[in-house]
Amino acid sequence: MPSVYLETFGCQMNELDSELVAGRLAQLGYTLTRDADAADVVLYNTCSVREQAEQKVWSRLGELRHEKARRPGMVVGVLGCMAERDGADLMKRMPVVDLMCGPGELDKLPDLLDNAVRTRGSLLAGESASLSALQGNASRRSATLAAAGDDLELLDLSRAFSPIDGDGASRRSAYVRITRGCNKFCTYCVVPFTRGAEVHRPPGHIIEECQRLADAGVVEITLLGQTVNHYRFEHGAAVTVGGMVQPQKGRTYKGAHHRDAFAGERVTTFADLLHAIHEKVPALQRLRFVTSYPRDFGDDVLEVMRDSPRICRYLHVPAQSGSDAVLARMNRGYTVGEYLEFLDRARQFLHQPEIGRPLMLSGDIIVGFPGESDEDYRGTVALLEKARYKNCFIFKYSPRPGTVAYDRIPDDVPEAVKRERNNHLLSVQAAIGHAIGQEQVGQTYPVLVEGLSQKQLKARGLSAADRKPRTIGVTIGGAAVATLPGVEARDTGHTPDPGPVQVTGRTDGDLIVHFDATSDAHARSLIGRIVPVRVESAGGLSLTGRLLDA
Ligand code: SAH
Ligand code: SF4
Ligand code: F3S
Repeated sequence: MPSVYLETFGCQMNELDSELVAGRLAQLGYTLTRDADAADVVLYNTCSVREQAEQKVWSRLGELRHEKARRPGMVVGVLGCMAERDGADLMKRMPVVDLMCGPGELDKLPDLLDNAVRTRGSLLAGESASLSALQGNASRRSATLAAAGDDLELLDLSRAFSPIDGDGASRRSAYVRITRGCNKFCTYCVVPFTRGAEVHRPPGHIIEECQRLADAGVVEITLLGQTVNHYRFEHGAAVTVGGMVQPQKGRTYKGAHHRDAFAGERVTTFADLLHAIHEKVPALQRLRFVTSYPRDFGDDVLEVMRDSPRICRYLHVPAQSGSDAVLARMNRGYTVGEYLEFLDRARQFLHQPEIGRPLMLSGDIIVGFPGESDEDYRGTVALLEKARYKNCFIFKYSPRPGTVAYDRIPDDVPEAVKRERNNHLLSVQAAIGHAIGQEQVGQTYPVLVEGLSQKQLKARGLSAADRKPRTIGVTIGGAAVATLPGVEARDTGHTPDPGPVQVTGRTDGDLIVHFDATSDAHARSLIGRIVPVRVESAGGLSLTGRLLDA
């Protein structure tokens, strides 16, 4: 069988898609390889969210031209959001591409790939097999219609759950999708076009997936959705999976005092879902979710979070701007005041430093959105100071063809101003992050150990590029090794150093913590475990601490 190299760009959704695709291809007998130069098939799972994200893929495809001239039998595929957005144009511009598959059609990838591999062999160099599966016009089907014909659900359901490997270095964190697509149509954003309409997965499928991951040794699950807290599954609306109608049973959360009350089987809300996973999968030690939308966030969700000890005190809740005028032009559907009120409410429910559980927040901001004045920008600075994110992703506005902002709102903030605001905001956030770090010194937190620290990897001559962090090369237990940074260091033939080995993990609030293990063997034994670490210092983006006796 042909060997496949799969590289991932973009968001966690894409990382999960790549994992599912890699697992499916492995089940079908393909070998997954880390070596792009020797692979029979090169697949890029791509992102379209900003121009820069696409540029990376264009240049990668450019590099492949020479390789393909040398090995005409090689198959090149573009998966994900860029395939969906650029469609046939992409193949015209890059004849090196043999197949394309949008994120909504990944269940068809095995067939496409099979076809491409067969036809490539019989084609002359330079000719294109032109195979593609894109949602195209179907992408705006209604949620109900889409759910009724949801073949994509089969891909999630086909997830490989093989047992963990011998030395315990398998994956302990996993993503589980709860919602596909997005219905928000923020004016700058391509996601509703590339991922299609919002479809909520049946709660029964989600809970079973969580259970099976926990059975396979996973201790931390992150639920995924573009507006994850918008989850809502209406029972009774028939859901067909693989031609079979699947009746869904669920329960409705009726507040803290009626936990066990079944209220018919009508609707499962996000609060119900969180509660059900927490109760039904006790082996799961950490449950998180991203990305939250600042609206649609009821007290019911906050109550479940507060009352469920294994749900993390962490919210990624992007504001995008600190100006009401800009938020309105972005079609975000909330004001700065409403956003800050939400943060206050979340803190009232969840910020409990006195019991060692402070609430940690992270955000996203776009600077230089059309019409953003100095005053608008000052509003964003003020918002960051009030929100006090532990970290915040800051992006310069990138006009995306096909979006409302691209068509109707001229991109009038000069590049130099965007850059200046971007740099300034990064420094504002760095100061906030630093202050939050200092507040943690002296605290002891349970830390889930992920792998060797960057510093340790560097000391071993492993650069970030060597580790290919976003490359799905090998799967263990159906899970990508790449999502557990540092574990791959095992494969480098490195002779263990005597003395301490620095490892990295995360707190429940998603703070990064480094600490020393006594040896390689000790480090290995800690990976995937939750251990108490006392924070001793804070710098930059991470904390340093000392392992306490468990
Ligand atoms: N669903 C999530 C975000 C998904 S996209 C949410 O609504 O919060 C991830 C981030 O990319 C966004 O939060 C936004 O900050 C950024 N982004 C999206 N489109 C962009 C664009 N055209 N230019 C710059 N940044 C963009
Ligand atoms: Fe894009 Fe807005 Fe949907 Fe987030 S909520 S994916 S920013 S359209
Ligand atoms: Fe990018 Fe698509 Fe995710 S555009 S951010 S890969 S949903």
